[in-house]
Amino acid sequence: MSIAVFASGSGSNFQRIAEVAQQDRWPEPVSLLICDRPGAKVLSRAEKLLIPAYSFVPRSYPSKADYEKDVLALLEKYQIKWIVLAGYMRLIGPTLLQAYQGRIVNIHPSLLPAFPGKNAIGQAFSYPVKVSGVTVHFVDEGMDTGPIIAQVPVEIADDDTEETFTKKIQQVEHQLFPKVVYDLITGKISCPDHLYRNQSKGENQ
Ligand code: GAR
Repeated sequence: MSIAVFASGSGSNFQRIAEVAQQDRWPEPVSLLICDRPGAKVLSRAEKLLIPAYSFVPRSYPSKADYEKDVLALLEKYQIKWIVLAGYMRLIGPTLLQAYQGRIVNIHPSLLPAFPGKNAIGQAFSYPVKVSGVTVHFVDEGMDTGPIIAQVPVEIADDDTEETFTKKIQQVEHQLFPKVVYDLITGKISCPDHLYRNQSKGENQ
């Protein structure tokens, strides 16, 4: 069994997790990258790391369910147990949620529930708040919702620019995310069903 990373963009978190997993010989390796933006930089990072990568064009499918069925078939082929969302800018639908409930984690560059969605760093910087940070959480059907696993605050200093603050956030992400994923695959943390506070009724009964 192994880990699939889903990403839409640059892929620095994907690279970091994959490198730590390779260097530290994790019992479950990163063995698949799923990308929903053909041409994204993350694809070349996967190539360098010799990790199989598949890029999809979700809008070419009649529905999200059809797209996710194709993704699910690949996950089964590669015997994927865990899904790690690393800058995957798309909501996970019922097809994947039901197959992987409690086994999908996401990283977000704010202290959730503050600043969910896109451009969380820019939102925090221009609000402006004094402290934002990084959150890793289990994924449910919402946008950056689901039970929180870990949070690390990051101060916005008076002389920070959005660029310098972004670098601080990325450094924290690159430390935190591999640790949480390792704890997950080694059973140190897990997602009890009752923590799914927002679960729609019926789906889980
Ligand atoms: C990361 O900052 C991650 O927290 C964020 O996308 C970036 C991806 O960077 N995710 C979200 O905003 C999810 N809502 P990367 O492609 O360099 O890993």
